Amino acid sequence: MEQTRGRFTGPPLTPRTAVIWSVLRAELDRRGDEQLTVLDVGGGTGGFAVPLAHAGHRVTVVDASPDALAALTRRAADAGVGDRVHAVQGDGDALAGLVEPASVDLVLCHAVLEVVDDPTPVVASLATALRPGGAASVLVAGRAAAVLGRAMNGHLTAAATLAADPGGSTGPRDTLRRRYDADTAAALLRAAGLAVEEIHGVRVLADLLPAAVADGQPAALLELERALAAQPPYRDLAAQLHLFARRPAGPSGRPVRPPA
Ligand SMILES: C[S@@+](CC[C@H](N)C(=O)[O-])C[C@H]1O[C@@H](n2cnc3c(N)ncnc32)[C@H](O)[C@@H]1O
Repeated sequence: MEQTRGRFTGPPLTPRTAVIWSVLRAELDRRGDEQLTVLDVGGGTGGFAVPLAHAGHRVTVVDASPDALAALTRRAADAGVGDRVHAVQGDGDALAGLVEPASVDLVLCHAVLEVVDDPTPVVASLATALRPGGAASVLVAGRAAAVLGRAMNGHLTAAATLAADPGGSTGPRDTLRRRYDADTAAALLRAAGLAVEEIHGVRVLADLLPAAVADGQPAALLELERALAAQPPYRDLAAQLHLFARRPAGPSGRPVRPPA
């Protein structure tokens, strides 16, 4: 990893992370040498927080799990960035008491909206935490991939339920509370006043390939994932959808009031 701000190369890329890092890298490059205030909601053990701190940014991770935060703190210390990573135990829908409104340049919320009780207040909290012009990186579980996955494993009833359920769940025993299509995920962010700039598919192919192919041709797989990530219909079949959105800045940089 490289530490100089403005020339962030990030950690080694995998099909799980390459597309997300390429979107984040473009935003970091756009901000040049600025030290950004980053908030990672449900950031877990710091897979994104620690590389961002390593690149020189100040990162606060708010997570409900004390165990995840303890692992994050160890990981940040081992990477020599403990002073730039702040671990806070808390709930993603109650950030107001933990993070000053309009104080964050980049907020991450990866693989969280599908597990929380209600995603609407969490997204509202993300939008409130952002400065006008600040950006949000949101990763959600994709519904179409789950339908295909269930069907290909012979679970046709579960596939049918998932396809028909507006929330993208098979019911109370599902490991996730909901899944998204590109449109439903974008609508959730827009309802909080965020402007969606980009949507990519993450793991379009990686979970579908036999391990021998994925492990045998990692560079080719990575290249193909990147090539397909932004292109419907491939994008929409990905295991996860990555949305990059921004809190609009009005004239003179003033915030645009989110719709009621
Ligand atoms: C699937 S993990 C994702 C971790 C990390 N964002 C990533 O992409 O690797 C979900 C994380 O969200 C946290 N979480 C779940 N509900 C939460 C809530 N209401 N508020 C804050 N964090 C929450 C969990 O503790 C867990 O660390």
